[in-house]
Amino acid sequence: MSDLANALDTIRAAAPNAAPRMGFILGSGLGSLAEAVSGVSIPYADLAGFPHAGVSGHSAALTIGTLNGVEVAVLGGREHYYENGRADAMRLPLEVLKELGIEQLILTNACGSFRADIPPGNLMLLSDHINYSGRSPLIGEPTDARFVNLTEAYDPTIRAGLSKAAEEEGEPLLDGVYAWYSGPNFETPAEIRMLKLLGADAVGMSTVPEVILSRFLGLRVAAVSVVTNMAAGLGNEHISHEHTKASAPIGAEKLSRIIRRYLSTI
Ligand code: HPA
Repeated sequence: MSDLANALDTIRAAAPNAAPRMGFILGSGLGSLAEAVSGVSIPYADLAGFPHAGVSGHSAALTIGTLNGVEVAVLGGREHYYENGRADAMRLPLEVLKELGIEQLILTNACGSFRADIPPGNLMLLSDHINYSGRSPLIGEPTDARFVNLTEAYDPTIRAGLSKAAEEEGEPLLDGVYAWYSGPNFETPAEIRMLKLLGADAVGMSTVPEVILSRFLGLRVAAVSVVTNMAAGLGNEHISHEHTKASAPIGAEKLSRIIRRYLSTI
């Protein structure tokens, strides 16, 4: 039996009637949304082929249930390219969400901002990305479906809905371009100056390969970054993973309110 079929069997045994419409991937320190879901939680370790998310700050479980009246499937934690050099590490979990029937996917992450008007504690709605790593999760994919069109990778309708929900929550949700840098080391100030010149507004170590995979699978996707710090050379805080984990919950609270309001509109 394939890992996909095996993982689906495990999920259907734990949540026989699940029919989620919305999917989520939660980034470092952003796991609180999963706790608000009433339903079942299945550790990745029990799901065939799932990553053994090794990054502290991630819960490493799939939660299926209801949030603000909408059936959701929440991936609490991701494997990053920098862990094992696999850009396609999240392919199987995304295939599982697709098989479960989700229509929309919202990805979240922590990022370093380049913009004084999007300081730490604020959110940025991704309008587009720069794949600065140069890696694609579709390398090796044999079918012609690999030639994915990314002209409107970030779904305009979901983005508009999230912006409206943010406005109604009284939280600014400016949009911007996210640059994917491989990590796990943070960037140098010179690299940040370069990424800024190239048109990026923020930098982070995730999300982009998942957006590419989502579009490959035909899922509609949007992504929101929680700004945990100004990027290297642009702020005074000492950039570290501890700082990211400690700062993410500040933005996560806003993000959670915005997402819950958004869910009540769909
Ligand atoms: N760079 C890359 N990834 C990040 C940062 C950063 O400054 N902050 C949080 N994730």
